[in-house]
Amino acid sequence: MLEIKNISKTFNPGTINEKKVFSDFSLTVKDSEFVTIIGANGAGKSTLFNAISGTFFTDSGTILLDGKNITLMSEYKRSRRIGRLFQDPMLGTAPGMTIEENLALAAGRGGWFSTLNRQDRERFKEKLSELGMGLEDKLTKPVGLLSGGQRQALTLMMATINPPDLLLLDEHTAALDPATAEKVLKITNDIVTKYNLTCLMVTHNMQSALDFGNRILMMDDGKVVFDACGEEKKNLKISDLLVLFRKGSGKALNTDRILLS
Ligand SMILES: Nc1ncnc2c1ncn2[C@@H]1O[C@H](COP(=O)(O)OP(=O)(O)OP(=O)(O)O)[C@@H](O)[C@H]1O
Ligand SMILES: [Mg+2]
Repeated sequence: MLEIKNISKTFNPGTINEKKVFSDFSLTVKDSEFVTIIGANGAGKSTLFNAISGTFFTDSGTILLDGKNITLMSEYKRSRRIGRLFQDPMLGTAPGMTIEENLALAAGRGGWFSTLNRQDRERFKEKLSELGMGLEDKLTKPVGLLSGGQRQALTLMMATINPPDLLLLDEHTAALDPATAEKVLKITNDIVTKYNLTCLMVTHNMQSALDFGNRILMMDDGKVVFDACGEEKKNLKISDLLVLFRKGSGKALNTDRILLS
């Protein structure tokens, strides 16, 4: 369970570039909740993920993960418990290393000398074939040669090979073509459901936000303006989201990156 209690964050305080992103922001995410997040540009979605991951420390408030206070834990230490994917497929893998070397590192089997054995390779192959991206025959190929979709699928597998306490997906399919994005979303859904992961997924595709997960949040200006789960979420349509966003934020959802279908 993730408990964010009353966090505040102001960037560049006291300067002309001062920007208050969060003021007394709280959010609780229960175990195995798969939360989709949509919101206006600059709403604070990525900043929320940065706060959770420890990219910076919040000015006040506390963050608990499975009951443990991680508010002042380093980003490096948090990364052992929190998996994260970004929009850019180039992040998250080491391009000069092979698929199996990347996987070995992710699985904690890497080191100065390779400790991979035949069983590891068989396990990796089996897991890779589940992705349906043809990666199982490319174990010894450098990751730099893979397509964006293959890399995101691999990054997802690396982030979940030891199931994390929390998985943060920040528009991880936004840079992919529509068919590949759909495939990677399906893989995402399969993995999150199979391992009962607690997951937050930011997307600018409203239909994906409705189709995936069991809870939906809409964010604007550092606040959650709408929050629904279960049956209430299931019954929502895109037109409802547009109305609810206007109700919660007092303005229309900006549409430069938001995809309506
Ligand atoms: N390190 C930083 N220094 C200064 N301002 C920042 C910093 N990080 C984020 N911000 C500001 O915080 C606000 C929220 O940004 P954030 O990237 O979280 O938005 P977002 O909801 O992820 O938007 P998008 O949909 O465009 O990805 C923006 O105004 C941004 O400029
Ligand atoms: Mg963002």
